[in-house]
Amino acid sequence: MKSIILVAPPAAGKGTQSSLICEKYGLLHISTGDLIREAIAKNDEMSDYLKSQIESGKLVSDEIILKLLGSRLNEMQKGPGYILDGFPRNVNQAIQYDSMLKEMNEKVSCVIYLAISKELAEKRIVGRISCPKCGRVYNEFIAENQPKIENTCDECGIELTKRSDDNAETFGVRFQTYLDETAPLIDYYKKQNILYEVDSTLPTDQVFAQIESIVDQI
Ligand code: AP5
Repeated sequence: MKSIILVAPPAAGKGTQSSLICEKYGLLHISTGDLIREAIAKNDEMSDYLKSQIESGKLVSDEIILKLLGSRLNEMQKGPGYILDGFPRNVNQAIQYDSMLKEMNEKVSCVIYLAISKELAEKRIVGRISCPKCGRVYNEFIAENQPKIENTCDECGIELTKRSDDNAETFGVRFQTYLDETAPLIDYYKKQNILYEVDSTLPTDQVFAQIESIVDQI
């Protein structure tokens, strides 16, 4: 079973590439950002905490993330394989995930690092719009990623929305959180010889072509 991790700064293209990989290889997509946004929508006792972490650009606690992810991962173990988009987000989460896999006699197939500068990521985030139903991501200003009909999802035909954490101030904190907490994962996985770097500054199809050549060999 394939289990692929995408590690990248905010707005590098994790969601965009996850959809393409899942479509081509029949894998399932787990985005911890989406799991958190689903939990916020439940409006229960945890929602306020999760909302404030997301909107301030800081990470949600490891304990909550592992709880949100736990049951989803168990379901995934019976399927064809999956992509983790946004998890692990720090070395502690990676260590915990490695021991969960060990108990299931599984291991990470590969880790794909989408490399991009802060400046380009910030430009991409300004125009991001996404479908509240299927999660597909578009961009108002980047021709190749525009929906066929303005502000409408190609698949679901419903109105696209902007994320509340897609503003310049929160983006700055999210990027710094990435540098402080997530970037150390690059060395963590390099030492395990499972890290592949992709140039994510290129157009979407060219980024995907690099990913295909990696996934085809694992
Ligand atoms: P999350 O939802 O994971 O957000 P993120 O990491 O900031 O990543 P994004 O979803 O913003 O970007 P992306 O890389 O998916 O890019 P996209 O494909 O959309 O996390 C949100 C928050 O949840 C975190 O800040 C944290 O608080 C919390 N959280 C999540 N996981 C956690 C965890 N494990 N532990 C603790 N806390 C956690 O692309 C961006 C735009 O660019 C789009 O408009 C797209 O159309 C465009 N685009 C993409 N690729 C290209 C390309 N090649 N060329 C041109 N345009 C492109």
